[in-house]
Amino acid sequence: MRIVRARDYKDMSRKAANIISAQIILKNDCVLGLATGSTPIGIYDTLTHWCEKGDLDFSQVKTVNLDEYVGLDGCHDQSYRYFMNKNLFDRVNINKDNTHVPNGKAENAQEECERYHRVIESMGGIDLQLLGIGNNGHIGFNEPSDVFEEKVHKVELTESTIQANSRLFDSIDEVPRYAYTMGIGEIMSAKRILIVASGKAKAPIVKELIEGPVRPEVPASILKFHSDVILIADEEALSLL
Ligand code: F6R
Repeated sequence: MRIVRARDYKDMSRKAANIISAQIILKNDCVLGLATGSTPIGIYDTLTHWCEKGDLDFSQVKTVNLDEYVGLDGCHDQSYRYFMNKNLFDRVNINKDNTHVPNGKAENAQEECERYHRVIESMGGIDLQLLGIGNNGHIGFNEPSDVFEEKVHKVELTESTIQANSRLFDSIDEVPRYAYTMGIGEIMSAKRILIVASGKAKAPIVKELIEGPVRPEVPASILKFHSDVILIADEEALSLL
């Protein structure tokens, strides 16, 4: 794992946006695996700015998101489809037909997992997968477990994730209890992985990620077995190392 030290959130965002931008320049019809959450917002702002300036062209880019809450449709302001439209897709010249997020309103969970797995496969592999990291080490919504789940699956969110995500809902009772997520196998199949972390709250898990063993209780630890992973973290997130 290559570790890139950023000064602060802004610097982390620019550095990560530079890597995504280079990927798009090198392969204009690349497949980007994308994440939601607070951490990538600055990255999406930066990419939007470069696209507006005419330095970046999303017209051929294809995207596949990591996860979605079960029960929320794409119009719900806390759904990940809504987040992606608002923070990136509605602001750049991407063809929305080429953007994919699991369907939180699917009637049959098993069929939705299989459908989304086929979507990922049909894209011919992810060129660059962007990841954040949960305080408990989750990537996508692969929560701490005693196994690494391979493929897209429906997952019950842990109390710590529900707690962390409740800041975005009116009350904790409104936070969905389940989500669809890409599996560890699909994430690990990406050609290159870019993981970003910012702030003091992430310092303990970043230390565990870098110094701890590979184990499913810390899902992100599996990234050590991937041959092309870049971690961009700011001073605060690296402060316990
Ligand atoms: C969301 C996702 C999650 C987040 C993680 C960190 O699509 O994949 O794994 O990356 O929960 O979230 P933030 O960035 O809000 O700290």
